[in-house]
Amino acid sequence: MMNNAGPANSALNRRMLLGTASAAAAGALLGGCSRSALAAPSQIPPATMLRPALDSIGAERNINFGSAFAWARPGVDAGSFVNSAYAALLRGECGMLTAENEMKWQALRPSPTQFDFARFDAMVDWAETQGMKLRGHTLLWHYDRWFPDWLNAYDYGVRPAAEADRLVVEHVRTVTARYGTRIVSYDVVNEAVDPETGTLRETSLSRALGSAEAVLDLAFNTARAHAPHAELVYNDYMSWEPGNERHQEGVLRLLQGFRARGTPVDALGVQSHLAIFESGVPIPELVARQSPAWRGFLDAVVAMGYRLVITELDTRDRGLPADIAIRDAGVAAYTRGYLDLMLSYPQLTDVIAWGLSDRYGWLRTFDPRPDGVPTRGLPYDTDLRPKPMRTAIAEAFRAAPSRPAQ
Ligand code: G3I
Repeated sequence: MMNNAGPANSALNRRMLLGTASAAAAGALLGGCSRSALAAPSQIPPATMLRPALDSIGAERNINFGSAFAWARPGVDAGSFVNSAYAALLRGECGMLTAENEMKWQALRPSPTQFDFARFDAMVDWAETQGMKLRGHTLLWHYDRWFPDWLNAYDYGVRPAAEADRLVVEHVRTVTARYGTRIVSYDVVNEAVDPETGTLRETSLSRALGSAEAVLDLAFNTARAHAPHAELVYNDYMSWEPGNERHQEGVLRLLQGFRARGTPVDALGVQSHLAIFESGVPIPELVARQSPAWRGFLDAVVAMGYRLVITELDTRDRGLPADIAIRDAGVAAYTRGYLDLMLSYPQLTDVIAWGLSDRYGWLRTFDPRPDGVPTRGLPYDTDLRPKPMRTAIAEAFRAAPSRPAQ
C-alpha cells in the first residue's frame, strides 16, 4: 500500500526538501518547532555515551565515522561545539567532522570583495584540538538557490568569462590555502545536477563562463592545484529510493565527463538523506526492492575509478507510524540495510551523519511529518540518548568486510 508520500511523490518530496521549496515555504514548514522553542542549553541532559565509540568500531574495518556540526554562540541550544552536552557526544562518537553550513559561500562571502572566516575558523580550531579530521563542505554549491544574493545579481562586466574564472579561482584558492592540510577531504562541488532533467544546473557563473562543465572543472582543477593532499569529491543527493533514476543518470553522465576531460575528481559523495516514504511495506522488502538498481548505479561509479563517501546520512520516517518503538525499529532496519549494501564496496571508507541528535537535525524543521510528530532520523534522540539507529550503524560496521587502510 502506498500513501501520498510513496514513490510517485518521492521526487516531489525531494524537490521540496533539497531544491525548489521557496524560503517562504520553508519558513511556513517550521511551524511550532523552531529551535528557539527548545530548552535552554543548561537544561539539556548530558549525553548517554555508549562504548566503544562508533568511530572506534569502524576503525577495526578501516572505516571512519563522523558527523556534521554547527557554529553557535555560547548559551544557544544548537548542534554545536559550544554546547557542552553535544560537544561531548561529538567527541565521544566521531573521528571526523563536517561544518553543516559555515564553509559555504553564503557563510564565507558576505560580499564580492570580502571573506568572513570567523565562524568556520572557530570550528576548524575546535575539531583540531579534539584530534578529529575535517571534511570541507562545500567549495561550490552550484545551485543559484544557495548562492549568496550578490552572486546571483553579479555584474560580470565586459569580459564575463574572465571575471567568472577569477571569482571561482579566488574563492577556491583562498579557502584551500587558508586551511592547508587541516582539511583532508573537500566536497568541491555540491548538487550540480538538476534531478528533474539530469542536466547540469545553470547559474550566473556558468552563463558567464560559457558552460556549467567549465565552472565545475575549474573548481576541481583549482582545488587540486592548491590542496594537492586532499580528497576531491563531487557530492549529490541522488538516492536509492524510486524517483531518483533521472538524477542518477545525470550524475553518471557528469562523472563520465569528468573522466573524459581529465578533471581531478577522486570520489562521489553520496549524501544519503534516506527516506521511508511508503507505509505498510516491511522494511526488508523495501531494501530488497531498491537494492539491485542501486547496486547497478554504484557499480557504474566505481567502475570509473571513483571512491565513495557517505557525506550526510539521515533517515526520514514519514512512511512509518508515529509509535516511537515501531518508528525507531523501522529507521534502524532501513539504515542497516542501506549501510550493509554501501559497506560491501571497499571504495567506501567514510560515513558521516548529518548530525547526531534528533534535537538539531535539519529534518526537524525542513520536513516535519504530516502528523506533526518530530522526526527521529538520527542516531540519538532529543535528550541525547542512543537509539536503535545507533546500534544499526555499529552492527553494520562490525559486519562490514575490512578494507585497506587509507
Ligand atoms: O544563520 C542564519 C541565521 O543568522 C538566520 O537568523 C536564520 C534565519 O532563517 O538563518 C540562519 O541560516 C540558516 C542556516 O541553515 C543555519 O541554520 C539558513 O536560513 C538555512 O537555509 C540553512 O539551512 C541549511 C541548508 O543546507 C542550506 O544551506 C541546513 O541547515 C543544512 O542542513 C542544509 O544542508 C544541506 C547540505 O549543505 C547539502 N545537502 C543537503 C543538505 C540538507 O538540505
